[in-house]
Amino acid sequence: MKTDSQVLVTGGTGFIGSHTVVELLQAGYNVVIVDNLCNSNKAVLGRIKQIVGDEAYKNCHFYEVDICNKGALDEVFSRHNIGSVIHFAGLKAVGESVDKPLEYYSNNIGGTLALCEVMREHGCKSIIFSSSSTVYGDPDELPLTEKSPKKNATNPYGWGKWMIEQILSDLYTADQAWDVVLLRYFNPIGAHESGLIGEDPKGIPNNLVPYVAQTAVGKRDVVHVFGDDYNTPDGTGVRDYIHVVDLAAGHVAALAWMQGKTGVEAFNLGTGHGSSVLEVLHAFEKACGHKIPYVIEPRRAGDIAENYADSSRALEILGWKTERDLADMCEDSWRWQSMNPDGLSDD
Ligand code: NAD
Ligand code: WQD
Repeated sequence: MKTDSQVLVTGGTGFIGSHTVVELLQAGYNVVIVDNLCNSNKAVLGRIKQIVGDEAYKNCHFYEVDICNKGALDEVFSRHNIGSVIHFAGLKAVGESVDKPLEYYSNNIGGTLALCEVMREHGCKSIIFSSSSTVYGDPDELPLTEKSPKKNATNPYGWGKWMIEQILSDLYTADQAWDVVLLRYFNPIGAHESGLIGEDPKGIPNNLVPYVAQTAVGKRDVVHVFGDDYNTPDGTGVRDYIHVVDLAAGHVAALAWMQGKTGVEAFNLGTGHGSSVLEVLHAFEKACGHKIPYVIEPRRAGDIAENYADSSRALEILGWKTERDLADMCEDSWRWQSMNPDGLSDD
């Protein structure tokens, strides 16, 4: 990163982005957020300020900008000395991507192309990309390492991650001044321990933990458990849940490590430990102090039985590992949900 330069965070008011902005500001970085607020609320900025304090927040700048809008992005790059980009902005609902492939490809791939073009025009060639364990598809072997084969995706959202990884790798092949880090997240859950920021899904949550949290707080009647006949210890799906603050810290570690380097590197960010749907549900019951009703339903189309990460490469190279367990994730998620039962309204 250039001296005195700033970090551009696309999608920085979203779930993972907002937690990463907090970690960056607390680590002394100067942060520029661009977000079009299509899946987040501007009120999150006030919450970030409350967490980091007025002094650190002076180093945080926000622009309501769509990354597909090259002109608007160009203005941001002209106004700031952007040294590196952390690229979170994108649509992320797997089911919706099946119904709206054009919207997903246009926003996620088109937005990334626009961003990279503007970066190149301004001589900024350092990018961390929010990828996903979805690029491994249905694994043949566990745990997943970065050498595990990438498999066909089963939906446009997953293909988007797959293709953007390829596009960024091709950029480096064409111009070895690029510095690309692909962070493959497993299942991010939890919230900041302050309870001030967390996951704020619009409508009915697609993901397990937000659904469990909304059921625990009384907004939903019952958790639907998608399948209890998988080849797993209790028959329900197993995933590697990672606390969002640990994930955010992974970005700060990657940003520090990549300075002065060029190349393309992928890292799995997970705990290395799988938990079943019922284990998550029972851990959440402990956190909230009461039973959470559930019913067993048929399997959800496209789901795999199990995945979890081998994150030893991130430890070896980035010096990063997770510090929070499933109980911490559920406690923090519950604190956020119970303090903000309707998510963030405009504060
Ligand atoms: P999120 O929806 O909370 O955050 C994404 C942010 O991007 C939102 O604030 C949204 O308003 C913004 N955005 C979307 N399109 C934009 C555009 N064209 N221009 C500007 N802003 C735009 O989602 P999240 O969970 O924080 O995910 C962040 C990134 O991590 C996404 O790329 C997602 O695909 C990826 N990821 C998420 C998970 C997960 O389970 N949450 C797992 C793996 C990867
Ligand atoms: C977890 C487990 C479900 C909801 C998805 C995307 C993936 C990644 C993260 C971004 C599974 C079960 C779920 C519910 C349930 N995103 N479940 N009842 O499917 O592992 O990953 O989000 O890249 O790409 O596919 O996460 O939270 O939806 O599901 O029983 O109401 O919980 O079957 O076993 P998933 P999830």
